[in-house]
Amino acid sequence: MTETRQYGFDTLQIHAGARPDPATGARQTPIYQTTAYVFRDAEHAAALFNLQEVGYIYSRLTNPTVAVLQERIATLEGGAGAVCCSSGHAAQIMALFPLMQPGCNIVASSRLYGGTITQFSQTIKRFGWSCKFVDFDDLDAVKAAIDDDTRAVFGEAIANPGGWIMDVRAVADVADAAGLPLIIDNTSATPYLVRPIEHGATLVVHSTTKYLTGNGTVTGGCVIDSGQFDWSASGKFPSLSEAEPAYHGLKFHETFGALAFTFHGIAVGLRDLGMTMNPQAAHYTLMGIETLSLRMERHVRNAETVAAWLEKHDAVDHVTYAGLKSSPYNKLAQKVCPKGAGGLFTVALKGGYDACVKFVDNLEIFSHVANLGDARSLVIHSASTTHRQLSPEQQEAAGAGPGVVRISIGIEDADDLIADLEQALAKAS
Ligand SMILES: Cc1ncc(COP(=O)(O)O)c(C=O)c1O
Repeated sequence: MTETRQYGFDTLQIHAGARPDPATGARQTPIYQTTAYVFRDAEHAAALFNLQEVGYIYSRLTNPTVAVLQERIATLEGGAGAVCCSSGHAAQIMALFPLMQPGCNIVASSRLYGGTITQFSQTIKRFGWSCKFVDFDDLDAVKAAIDDDTRAVFGEAIANPGGWIMDVRAVADVADAAGLPLIIDNTSATPYLVRPIEHGATLVVHSTTKYLTGNGTVTGGCVIDSGQFDWSASGKFPSLSEAEPAYHGLKFHETFGALAFTFHGIAVGLRDLGMTMNPQAAHYTLMGIETLSLRMERHVRNAETVAAWLEKHDAVDHVTYAGLKSSPYNKLAQKVCPKGAGGLFTVALKGGYDACVKFVDNLEIFSHVANLGDARSLVIHSASTTHRQLSPEQQEAAGAGPGVVRISIGIEDADDLIADLEQALAKAS
């Protein structure tokens, strides 16, 4: 591909980062199933270890199959570089790791995937980090929560489970005014619907487990850096701006400029935390990502049809889909994600907890699983599963109360999905 032409999304999702294999001419990206790579000589090995030459040392750090996926996702997100890792949760730790020290905090939206709320409210305390959760619709609350020890602001562009839309630009402006990076979890939106860097985000994280792979086969994660943040301006990010003791005193920002965060993620993050994506997982995700735009268009079309049908059903109290005219997020959705509000939303049943359980148990096409973003339609009762570790107040704030079911709409025939929902609702009420 020529570097001069601006290729469209559909072309880049197939070609970005990949070229015919130089050894064999293989057109599809091979799975480089190897742990290590032979050095040409001792000088070559030393240059690789000193980061003076870019190449392959050991697959905990870099692997050619994973490298193609990294370049593919970085290109689709409009970032300078990306680091893939073993899961979406690993990506979140990998994103925070270069920014944080013991005693530092992050300010995060109260509307996040339940596992992320647990990771941020409990697990990161073991590293001496903490998190303040605020309603990101209230920009004054975001501003007020930021203090001298805050090192990042974190939210989901389209939030799990309700599919609520975040005003990424407005929150980015608040983070920017405080000299902080905004990290966006773009899992539910994908770069086809939202490109957070264009809205002012510094870092984007993904659970590639979901829509990017799109077939429910592998777990994976990715951190994409915009390359636009000045890590040296405030003195708050010494791992990037000062001599990094974990990499024999290398100054990452001074040495690598826009690629500082990406190089740190590989040379220190993957090397020492070891949350590596394996080449098989990268292969499955590369296969999936080739059809991302086609699938997202169908996910959106089906979600719009199914949500509109559900909203009118007698057993339904409300539906949270931002693509519905009745949603308080509908206007914002047109600004943030004009191609559609994704395929994820919740439905609240008038019959409460008992009706939700019966509804989930009686669905036939929809699978009851702890996943989203599959080609298959999926359903889960968040309060008793993904959001189970949360207090009742946190569940309500996250939109995952006991009377609510999360739906991830697949790419099947919408009529079949509606027929399945209809028979299960009849049995539930
Ligand atoms: C929005 C979101 N972010 C992150 C994650 C965590 O991803 P993983 O399960 O790949 O660790 C999930 C998982 O459901 C998610 O839905």
